[in-house]
Amino acid sequence: MRVLVTGGAGYIGSLTTLQLLQAGHEVLVLDNFSNAKPAVLGRVAQLAGREPAFEQGDVRDGALLRRLLAGQGVEAVMHFAGLKAVSESVHKPLEYFDNNVQGSLSLLSAMRDTGVRTLVFSSSATVYGLAETMPLREDAPTGTTNPYGRSKLMVEQMLQDLAAADPAWSLCALRYFNPVGAHPSGLLGEDPQGIPNNLMPFIAQVAVGRRAALQIFGRDYPTVDGTGVRDYIHVQDLATGHLAALGHVHGRPGWHVFNLGTGRSHSVLEVLRAYEAACGRALAHEFVPRRGGDVAQSWADPARAESALNWRAELSLAQMCEDSWRWQSQNPNGYD
Ligand code: NAD
Ligand code: UD1
Repeated sequence: MRVLVTGGAGYIGSLTTLQLLQAGHEVLVLDNFSNAKPAVLGRVAQLAGREPAFEQGDVRDGALLRRLLAGQGVEAVMHFAGLKAVSESVHKPLEYFDNNVQGSLSLLSAMRDTGVRTLVFSSSATVYGLAETMPLREDAPTGTTNPYGRSKLMVEQMLQDLAAADPAWSLCALRYFNPVGAHPSGLLGEDPQGIPNNLMPFIAQVAVGRRAALQIFGRDYPTVDGTGVRDYIHVQDLATGHLAALGHVHGRPGWHVFNLGTGRSHSVLEVLRAYEAACGRALAHEFVPRRGGDVAQSWADPARAESALNWRAELSLAQMCEDSWRWQSQNPNGYD
């Protein structure tokens, strides 16, 4: 297939672009480099043995999208482009609604106008809000606690309304749990700008000497050891899940939603210990109060994706940490 990948220079988009190329698909990447470096695409090409087509631009540019979609035989879109930092979204809500909601609306309008009817959208387990009953199934109630989460839920609702209005569309939301890890070559990985918001990239920067110590947010949660518990999924498994979802929904009209998680749960301390094993040394850490807005625990019921997509996350926490460490130690300053 010929696939337009928005945000294809980003962390998850680049690894998925690589897998699409390796599976024989033609890929056209659209990215505005607001949170990515051009060097990523050279590394994707190095690993794939061929280059993805690339256009630098913004998903909010409807004219550009129509040109890309109409002129190049695109059959499906994977939509990764967007902003993703929860705390930033609280301070800059309009930027989040503009990039994430308006960007998706612009993309869907261009798809409508050019006859492209298959979309795989990057959603998030954040749409389950403060749910307390685990594991989370796709039919669990949704709810949000911040503008980022609301932007994801709004797009899911747009997709549902569109699928209901016109049976020609195949629209799929993938609710990611906690993507971590890197390509096993060490050539592609997560390169957060500034201070990492998320756990594993923060630990990776402590391990490589860029940060002094991990702050562990809360040790009084009702969990196995008092620290927060999550469903960490290797980004390679996540990418494989996208290819499985694309194969399933293309030509199968309607609204589709799948959790992409492992169904396993790990505490902050378990992740820290696994990372210490991967990098071979103890890592400085301290306990600080809970972070506002955090839930005690969150993990997926991945049964729907396993049965419908014939997909299952295979890689262990140890492999996530080993691959993250290979990436971080080979690229201490990311793509710079
Ligand atoms: P990322 O920031 O690495 O990738 C996003 C890419 O989109 C970047 O390359 C950025 O330059 C590009 N981009 C942003 N706005 C754009 C715009 N308006 N036009 C064109 N390009 C634009 O993030 P990621 O971790 O790879 O996440 C990809 C998607 O998955 C995002 O939509 C994110 O919200 C979602 N998601 C991520 C996580 C996670 O933990 N990483 C979890 C759940 C959902
Ligand atoms: C966060 C977002 C979520 C988003 C997801 C993307 C918040 C409140 N939630 O989820 O909406 O979909 O990222 O992956 O930002 N932790 C520490 N120290 C740190 C960083 C994290 O102890 O420096 C802990 C957290 O309290 C949590 C766990 O590690 O228990 C995982 O945190 P993180 O990687 O930020 O992911 P989420 O909070 O699950």
